[in-house]
Amino acid sequence: MKVLVVGSGGREHAIVTAAAKSPRVEKIWCAPGNAGIAALAECVPIGAMEFEKLVAFAKERQIDFTIIGMDDPLVGGIVDAFEAEGLRVFGPRKNAAILEGSKAFSKDLMKKYGIPTAAYEKFHSPEAALAYLETAKMPIVLKADGLALGKGVLICNTLDEAKAGVKELMEDKKFGDAGNTIVVEEFMTGREVSVLSFVDGKTIRIMSSAQDHKRAKDGNEGLNTGGMGTFSPSPFYTDEVDAFCKEHIYQATVDAMAAEGRPFTGVIFFGLMLTEDGPKVLEYNARFGDPEAQVVLPRMENDMIEVMEACVDGRLDEVELSFMDNAAVCVVLASDGYPLSYEKGLPIDGLERFEGKSDYFCFHAGTKAGEDGRILTNGGRVLGITAMGADLKEARAKAYEATEWVGFANKYMRHDIGRAIDEA
Ligand code: AMP
Ligand code: GLY
Repeated sequence: MKVLVVGSGGREHAIVTAAAKSPRVEKIWCAPGNAGIAALAECVPIGAMEFEKLVAFAKERQIDFTIIGMDDPLVGGIVDAFEAEGLRVFGPRKNAAILEGSKAFSKDLMKKYGIPTAAYEKFHSPEAALAYLETAKMPIVLKADGLALGKGVLICNTLDEAKAGVKELMEDKKFGDAGNTIVVEEFMTGREVSVLSFVDGKTIRIMSSAQDHKRAKDGNEGLNTGGMGTFSPSPFYTDEVDAFCKEHIYQATVDAMAAEGRPFTGVIFFGLMLTEDGPKVLEYNARFGDPEAQVVLPRMENDMIEVMEACVDGRLDEVELSFMDNAAVCVVLASDGYPLSYEKGLPIDGLERFEGKSDYFCFHAGTKAGEDGRILTNGGRVLGITAMGADLKEARAKAYEATEWVGFANKYMRHDIGRAIDEA
């Protein structure tokens, strides 16, 4: 089988790594890919939003199966573009990717179908939002309706902050049209858990849980990022939480999408908050998390390609997922200054230390090959260092040990990934 993966980050490196393990896969291409992915796949210089070129490439190379890693192309309708040409592709169609693409849509869906989530109101004008905020309880959460690279969420402690937030999202249009509509949401407290799942339109299969660390600095200080590190499984995702979510959240979401005439095929990522009143949905994503994929996929015992094909063919009910009885931790090595401004193009040393080690992974997020063949930094998040261990503590110690194997001039990381493990 010939496989094409669309995307270029650490998540896509983890997807390509899992695909390469499948005995059914003879060759992998990745568009556009990165310097790490290039060791397993042939990278093609086509951007993830260049649908016509991607479709033409898939036809020309007779690609049997395409996997879309990223949210933007999914929300933009890449799956519809592939299907229109009779190509097999893993991911939700545009009318289902809206689950991630519009927060107003997903909140309305949850309300209509009784899926637990924070109370909210949505607004299409700044005047209406400001009038509502005058009497609202603080802190409060403002969310741009559309995609904003995970940065369109503002947590406001005071009325003044909330007013400034409305200006930023709706008047200054910091995230463009994503802020034409905003959702104003009740502030919730609790632990966050990321749960990824495979879905075939009707059936859902849950993967092992994970926890992300979204803030840039130790102690959850600093700005929100794409994610600075993860661990899996989450010790806070108990059997009781699992049973509650199975009863009230997972299948209910899949059924709601089908009932709306928007059957969802692909990965649903449930961002959950474990509140005092039980688990509630913070957000949905229509794809694997990054860096959640980097701790969940290495622990999956199934052939990922077989599971994805079962999703596309609508026979996921025949599949049971199985995960290793171990744990994984991923520590992201970023460029100092991320997520604001940072230097790129710096040489990376020590990458060869990961070769031939089955329980350590160096997932490339932002790298490129330099003219002399050396691998250079090429982004805010540069590498994701994942290690597996018998338990979370061992995995964490191994991941941090391996962060020392590689170096680049502006290397930055959080030192407290997985600290929550000690409180479990
Ligand atoms: P989202 O993109 O919706 O996951 O939001 C990004 C982050 O903002 C989440 O991971 C939470 O840490 C935080 N957040 C979002 N919504 C809420 C809420 N209603 N209450 C508290 N924190 C929230
Ligand atoms: N790590 C969070 C995300 O992928 O959205």
